[in-house]
Amino acid sequence: MSNTKVDILLLGSGGREHALLVKLAESPRAGKLYVAPGNGGMDVMAKKVEGLDVESPVAVADWAREHNIGLVVIGPEAPLVAGVADAVRSAGIPCFGPNGDAAQMEGSKKFAKQVMARAGVPTAAYRSFTDQESCEAYVRQVGAPIVIKADGLAAGKGVIVAKTLEEALEGVQECFSGVFGDAGATVVVEETLEGPECSLLALTDGRTVVPLATAQDHKRALDGDKGPNTGGMGVYSPVPEHLVSAEALAAMVDIEQRVVAELASEGITYSGCLYGGFMLTAEGPKVLEFNARFGDPETQVVLPRMKADLVDVFLACDNGTLTPDMVSWDDDWAVSVVLTSAGYPGSYEKGKVITGIEKAEALEGVTVYHAGTAVADSELVTAGGRVLDVTAVAPTFEEARARAYEACALIDFEGKTYRSDIGLRAVR
Ligand code: AMP
Ligand code: GLY
Repeated sequence: MSNTKVDILLLGSGGREHALLVKLAESPRAGKLYVAPGNGGMDVMAKKVEGLDVESPVAVADWAREHNIGLVVIGPEAPLVAGVADAVRSAGIPCFGPNGDAAQMEGSKKFAKQVMARAGVPTAAYRSFTDQESCEAYVRQVGAPIVIKADGLAAGKGVIVAKTLEEALEGVQECFSGVFGDAGATVVVEETLEGPECSLLALTDGRTVVPLATAQDHKRALDGDKGPNTGGMGVYSPVPEHLVSAEALAAMVDIEQRVVAELASEGITYSGCLYGGFMLTAEGPKVLEFNARFGDPETQVVLPRMKADLVDVFLACDNGTLTPDMVSWDDDWAVSVVLTSAGYPGSYEKGKVITGIEKAEALEGVTVYHAGTAVADSELVTAGGRVLDVTAVAPTFEEARARAYEACALIDFEGKTYRSDIGLRAVR
């Protein structure tokens, strides 16, 4: 790899992007850093690009060309599905993140299911429907429990795990009613899988797949996995062996390799991060979903444990030279607790002053990644449902968990809400 510095444009505004920015900034190859739109914590490390439409392929490619950007890193799914990576690559600029065709692995659940079937990858049995009547008839015939999913991107909201037939039919009705926009025009109906969940992020250049560490997200809003689904309330890494055996891990890696190889055989190069969400069933891991990007909040526990020059690694994903030796791991554990605004994932208030982050970060191994924050009148305030990701890294799981919660207690804002049981599943 050359040693020349590259100027980087990072797209996104969440805790995931803050964690990516911190890791990119550590690279000796990082030149000027730009972020669009960013959040209240990223401006200190990167220049905020005002007014750039990050979902417009032409706008992003033009901006990157005009500013001599050497690497565009795409955090969230919407720009990927919109084809921003295609436009950036067409402009001759290296890009981290799959092109639009490959991003369909996240952008269309039906597409992903079809690829999985051709790749021989285990996943829940399913049927897809484009008209409400036949969908309802099928749901009545199969009965509950059953899972209803809007086909397209629905910001993490288009999945209904129905315990009763009524809930299932309500879910079908909701999808077809248009609340998820075009995302719900096609509906996927799946069998319900059971077991603990596990995420496995992998980096790939379209040929070589380098698995990153396992992580376990906590998707429900309340302790004990109660309450509505959210974008993720907390996470830890790695997932211990009593939950993910070496055999299960090997099976998950094999699944991701097979998907990338299947896409390649169909003429689709998948380069970037492939996020596999798995259910660890009695019959082995089965795919719940694929995402075409890093997970949020998984990234906030995986990247701090990763030893790699992220600029080199991302460029290698883009230009087809990724090798497994580019990434190694330290033995530490990481736990991240998400501080949310009261009411999330429903409606919540914004603009509450945040204090105590410096005290929290003074604790050993603690990093506070910003998610929904903004700076208003030179004060840091809340600006979203998920506000901060309080992450602690330590030699043992227990220390990491205790340190993360100690840090959470030092931070204050009106309406601060968080789960108290993040990571308890890792304790036998
Ligand atoms: P997804 O966005 O597809 O990951 O779905 C969100 C959440 O819904 C997952 O993390 C699971 O908890 C749950 N889920 C999705 N599909 C299934 C399934 N087939 N069986 C049981 N739970 C599921
Ligand atoms: N942590 C779930 C996701 O990133 O989709």
